[in-house]
Amino acid sequence: METLEVALGERSYPIYIGEGLLENDILLNKEISAKQILIVTNDVVAPLYLGAIEQALTDREQGSVILSDGEQHKTLDCFSKIIDTLIDRGFHRDACIVALGGGVIGDIAGFAAACYQRGVDYVQIPTTLLAQVDSSVGGKTAVNHSRVKNMIGAFHQPISVIADTNVLKTLAPREYAAGLAEIIKYGLILDEGFFEWQEMHMEALLALDAEALSFAIRRSCELKAAIVSEDERDLNRRALLNFGHTFGHVLESLGKFERWLHGEAVSIGMSMAMRTSCSLGWISNFDCERVDSLLLRANLPVAFEGLNPDKFLELMQLDKKAYAEGLKLVLLKRIGEGTVAAAPNNTILIDVIGAKAGN
Ligand code: NAD
Ligand code: GLY
Repeated sequence: METLEVALGERSYPIYIGEGLLENDILLNKEISAKQILIVTNDVVAPLYLGAIEQALTDREQGSVILSDGEQHKTLDCFSKIIDTLIDRGFHRDACIVALGGGVIGDIAGFAAACYQRGVDYVQIPTTLLAQVDSSVGGKTAVNHSRVKNMIGAFHQPISVIADTNVLKTLAPREYAAGLAEIIKYGLILDEGFFEWQEMHMEALLALDAEALSFAIRRSCELKAAIVSEDERDLNRRALLNFGHTFGHVLESLGKFERWLHGEAVSIGMSMAMRTSCSLGWISNFDCERVDSLLLRANLPVAFEGLNPDKFLELMQLDKKAYAEGLKLVLLKRIGEGTVAAAPNNTILIDVIGAKAGN
């Protein structure tokens, strides 16, 4: 088992990464020590892993909320179900919520923990690769508004993150690849050596090789933890984590959040951000090809068909990261060095989008 820390003074917390952590009763009892525990999960994850947590913590007052699976249930209604259960069962301020699932569950359960009695503890037990390398770390919690994703939320850090790599064996290959996109992102924006390691070990990652997987999750969490420690409230450097996301959000919304998984949209978005960085003379064509090649090897898309570049650009301007002074993008100065920069002129952007849209 590997242990890291997210350093945030009194609110610092550990991240545990390893095989079989859901069977490690000693660890679970140490990290989830409250007398009252509410486990929040969904109807896909519950039959697979809820029993392990319940059995490990039998001596506590336990409850569970099993939500319907899917991003469409990341709503205030589901948030209310959690709050209703906490109230019905008379849970106190020293209760602990356990988020058992992917990013959707982690975000809703974390938001309920941020709000119940003005804030109770929660532990993240992420069960998707994306959640293990990204959403379970950093304390961003939210539900979606009917018109805009993640619009209602709070910063609320968990007290512990327990990432059992064995649970990834039941994850659908497409969901696994979506998590790989975020791992590739960390190398691109922060660590050239990590990107090169991924070029050498992508086949091992695809085969769920335990050593490779554990290293990739640990390095991703280390890089994210360092950024969160520096800029918890996302006022500055944390914006780098949005590499590929401005383009990706447009794709997700054009696809009505059904056509692309988040990680797939980010993959195409990163490829577009690489091309934009190349147009500015910061990145070589050769490096753009290297990145596309790694994304393709990870079973991720790097282009799409049938989109109108003008419409795409219009939607980009609406992205929440379009500041008053104009659209900003996360671009690369070189592999391993991300930067937030003013978007180049529309002609360049239309060229980049058009090339990816096959127009
Ligand atoms: P998800 O939570 O929907 O999980 C993907 C699918 O995998 C679901 O069907 C889920 O039921 C299933 N699943 C989960 N674990 C499984 C397992 N071990 N075996 C089999 N199936 C399993 O999606 P996700 O990709 O984990 O997370 C996406 C969400 O995370 C989005 O809502 C996004 O906004 C959010 N997010 C938040 C942050 C943050 O910092 N808080 C960062 C990135 C993404
Ligand atoms: N996933 C972006 C962030 O945590 O800031």
